[in-house]
Amino acid sequence: MKKMGLVIVAAMGGLLLFKTFGPSGEVCPFLAPASLSAPQPARAVRALEDGLALTPPMGWYPWNIFGEEPQNEKLIEEIVDALVSSGLKAAGYSYVGPDEGICFYRRDDGRLTTNLERYPSGLRSLGDAIHKKGLKYALYTDAGTHTCSTAMPGTKDHEFEDMRQFAEWRADYIKIDWCNTEGQDIVKTYTTLHDAQLAAGRPVVHSLCSWGEGYPWRWAGAVGHLWRTTADICAPGQADWTRVLGMAFANEKLAAFAGPGHWNDPDMMISGMPGISDPQSRSFFSLWCLMAAPLIAGNDLRSMSRATVETLTNLEAIAVNQDPLGVQGKIVWTDGMVSLWAEKPLFDGGQAVLVFNQGRHEANKQIAWPEIGIDAAASCYVRNLWTHETIGPLTGGVTVHVAPDDVAFLRISPKPDFSLPPVLVADSYLVSLRSTDSSPQKLSGAITITNKGSAELPLWKVGEGLPAWLSVSVSKNGKSQTLNNTISTAGLKKGLYHAAVRADNTEPVSGRPMSALYYDVDLEVSQDVSGQSK
Ligand code: GLA
Repeated sequence: MKKMGLVIVAAMGGLLLFKTFGPSGEVCPFLAPASLSAPQPARAVRALEDGLALTPPMGWYPWNIFGEEPQNEKLIEEIVDALVSSGLKAAGYSYVGPDEGICFYRRDDGRLTTNLERYPSGLRSLGDAIHKKGLKYALYTDAGTHTCSTAMPGTKDHEFEDMRQFAEWRADYIKIDWCNTEGQDIVKTYTTLHDAQLAAGRPVVHSLCSWGEGYPWRWAGAVGHLWRTTADICAPGQADWTRVLGMAFANEKLAAFAGPGHWNDPDMMISGMPGISDPQSRSFFSLWCLMAAPLIAGNDLRSMSRATVETLTNLEAIAVNQDPLGVQGKIVWTDGMVSLWAEKPLFDGGQAVLVFNQGRHEANKQIAWPEIGIDAAASCYVRNLWTHETIGPLTGGVTVHVAPDDVAFLRISPKPDFSLPPVLVADSYLVSLRSTDSSPQKLSGAITITNKGSAELPLWKVGEGLPAWLSVSVSKNGKSQTLNNTISTAGLKKGLYHAAVRADNTEPVSGRPMSALYYDVDLEVSQDVSGQSK
């Protein structure tokens, strides 16, 4: 029998000590934890059709830090620039746009119209600007008569026209609040909104926001992609750690209801907000990653500390969140102050594990392999996702040392390579072309998608049903693929043309479908063109 070994690792992220305490084994076979092999609640999943949000959505929303008043076009544009320049976009964050903060009114004829005082370029132009930066456009509304502040119109009795307007503004993500809904049936209302989104013809991520009211985890996967499980995580600008912990522990209990395309949403992130320390930011981020929660940043991206940027852009932590199996991890042991979170199998045959210390004193936690579903005799590698160090092979288990408010966030695997699943970054989601000639022209525009994960992806498969004037071919250059859009203007009449292109792909290691890629192609034909189309 091998003697117990001891490895000391100097570290941030609360992890100081690794220790083996068992005999050596040959391999690291995982036992299926009881709750993973148990039947999951049956439910329909909307994302099976539209392929959206098969991993948790990532992005930024203004509410947590700004609340309503400061929101306007300038702020959103500055945030969009900061998303790109800070490296958040390159780490996979993509959905961005206004939350509540009077961005539109309802006109007398019933149609929504941009509040041009706050958004002088209009909400469609804002969407186009966001798409041209390779980001996705998020908008906000409410299922009742008015939004929560009552300053903006809700969708009640206008569901179909409003979702059509959101599609015209080219929204890719719509958060729908549940304020001012007295007397409304929650399932019927969100189902109508789902039907209205389908009727509008633009695939959108539907984010339900009833704060857990109506138990959306039981039914909302059929009509949306994510649902809030808890009340607001903070009042604007006032992050509160104790309140945050309540949200995390409430959401943890709903693990069985989450999966690809249907996520529990314990609200936007507070990492990097005033009043939250660096270890708390790191712990929060790790918990949201392990729970496969949407990673919607809520801090001011224009003024982030280096530590906040490092936390929010930690690709190894993000890889756990974006894992294609889409399992929400949960608590498998706690003494009330220190908790062990596991049951988060990963695409490469390993698993993610987290030890969180919410107490006031430093703590050691001995993780015995069987506690996390690993055969006691197995030997495994352990990767610290905050120090980016790997140790092993270890047998029997590992001991971690965790400072107050901090976490040890680990990947444990039979293999030492810890590859990353796909994380996609686009150079643009909008191709805009203009023809000026009355004789047929060929025009082209490219969209390049780069995978920040470890593997090269198979070629993206472009969906059928493109208009006759558009053809798309795909070429590959290592981790980047380019979708080449060729437009033939032959036979087209003067006017504006639009196509929404869908492409699909498969994650090569797990064989799981990846979130569908959607982008827009706009063509302006400035005079009638002779010839046959195509
Ligand atoms: C609710 C939501 C918040 C935010 C506000 C806006 O409280 O839960 O996330 O959108 O409305 O009023």
